[in-house]
Amino acid sequence: MTLLSLLSSLLLLALGVVANPVVINRSLVTLPLAKKYNFTSINNLLKHDQARARALKSRAFGKGGVPDTGINEPITNQVVTYIASVGVGNPPTNYSLVVDTGSSNTWIGSGNKKYVKTNSSVQTGDSVSVSYGKGFFSGTEFYDTVTLTPQLIIPRQSIGVASQSKAFDTVNGILGIGPKDLTVGTLSPDKNTVVPTVTDNLYNLRTIPANQIGIFFQPFTPTSSGNGEIAWGGADSSKYTGQINFTPITNTHPASAYWGINQSIHYGPTTILRLTAGIVDTGTTLILLATDAFNGYKSATGAVPDTTTGLLSITPAQFAKLQDLVFTTNSGSYALTPNAQLWPRSLNTQIGGTAGSIYLIVGNLGTPSGQGLDFINGYAFLERFYSVYDTTNQQVGLATTSYTNAITN
Ligand SMILES: *[C@@H]1O[C@H](CO)[C@@H](O)[C@H](O)[C@H]1NC(C)=O
Ligand SMILES: *[C@@H]1O[C@H](CO)[C@@H](O)[C@H](O)[C@H]1NC(C)=O
Ligand SMILES: *[C@@H]1O[C@H](CO)[C@@H](O)[C@H](O)[C@H]1NC(C)=O
Ligand SMILES: *[C@@H]1O[C@H](CO)[C@@H](O)[C@H](O)[C@H]1NC(C)=O
Ligand SMILES: *[C@@H]1O[C@H](CO)[C@@H](O)[C@H](O)[C@H]1NC(C)=O
Repeated sequence: MTLLSLLSSLLLLALGVVANPVVINRSLVTLPLAKKYNFTSINNLLKHDQARARALKSRAFGKGGVPDTGINEPITNQVVTYIASVGVGNPPTNYSLVVDTGSSNTWIGSGNKKYVKTNSSVQTGDSVSVSYGKGFFSGTEFYDTVTLTPQLIIPRQSIGVASQSKAFDTVNGILGIGPKDLTVGTLSPDKNTVVPTVTDNLYNLRTIPANQIGIFFQPFTPTSSGNGEIAWGGADSSKYTGQINFTPITNTHPASAYWGINQSIHYGPTTILRLTAGIVDTGTTLILLATDAFNGYKSATGAVPDTTTGLLSITPAQFAKLQDLVFTTNSGSYALTPNAQLWPRSLNTQIGGTAGSIYLIVGNLGTPSGQGLDFINGYAFLERFYSVYDTTNQQVGLATTSYTNAITN
């Protein structure tokens, strides 16, 4: 072993979790995601994200006996959602499902698309209900064939079929790809049943080589609304640059119930948030920071809150001096460039803002740090970094993409 290779092995050992991800054959196991905007659905972007943050915290604390208080804001009432077309039955009927890493039940039957039963439909004997606060669904649990792509078919996936639902009128249900323990308490009478997600089943069937998903979201640009992609079984090497660095799922509750990690945040040389637990979440639009960290960012940038949009606003002079906002895990650093910290300016008026203004995508989580869920890395982060959700090794991977440093906003 040469000295250089010895040193690099030692460096890898020291970094600990820089493991090679499974790189998958993209033509086999990727599912395109359509990005959908609904600007009429809310009048304050921030309030919506804050409500989801509160609900995610209370939902995790509610586990283990106490009734689940659910997500207090329907995830479909968002400005941005990513939708997957998923087939159910034999022959399959296609349903448009919201992709959610913050919940784990997959269900269909809302909107104008009723469940089409075929010879593959088998009732499980359980009823199912998940409360998302203002939104919910309840119905009957079935086993049925779920087709994600012609290569990704799950013959006996446990899914909910809604007989009633609220606040999901514009989609046909949810593809829940969070940790499967979030399904405990959703079935009745089998309250203690853990419902495996589509990812768990694909792995159990060995259809995919690892219990991992890779998610790519593309930022809005004036020429493209920005679609996305989920890769099952590993990472799609055509969608990220450099290497994927993994960090373990945090053991701090309640972030540990979700795709939670430890992370610190710096704005230029200033520490905004010391190493603490939070989550990576596809159901949150902005990047939310605990109030003390948010205040640190606000004073470091000189931004002022804009009451109409709920976002921070800065002047062109302040924008010219904006520094990188750097997210550091135990395995790597991820810098949001000044441009990546802006709400897309061409969408200002759609969220109630002023055309010429400059709004920031960092929002106040609404609670102080030290509560076990001190940040949420939402779309604003995930549209700049590829993310890998690894159940087998209980870790989250992050990598740069061709959009990390892009000037799109
Ligand atoms: C990926 O799968 C496709 C379809 O089976 C195949 O044609 C292609 O050769 C595979 N590529 C690699 C790199 O294995
Ligand atoms: C947007 O959201 C509103 C309110 O939830 C809903 O009434 C409307 O149908 C939605 N539009 C689309 C295109 O999803
Ligand atoms: C369902 O979706 C798949 C994949 O997008 C497509 O190939 C198929 O034609 C669709 N089926 C129907 C009945 O629309
Ligand atoms: C179920 O229906 C499909 C499609 O019509 C057919 O190909 C399959 O043979 C049927 N299976 C059984 C067990 O009847
Ligand atoms: C995360 O941080 C907490 C303290 O904030 C610490 O106890 C824990 O060991 C860290 N690492 C993991 C993987 O949770």
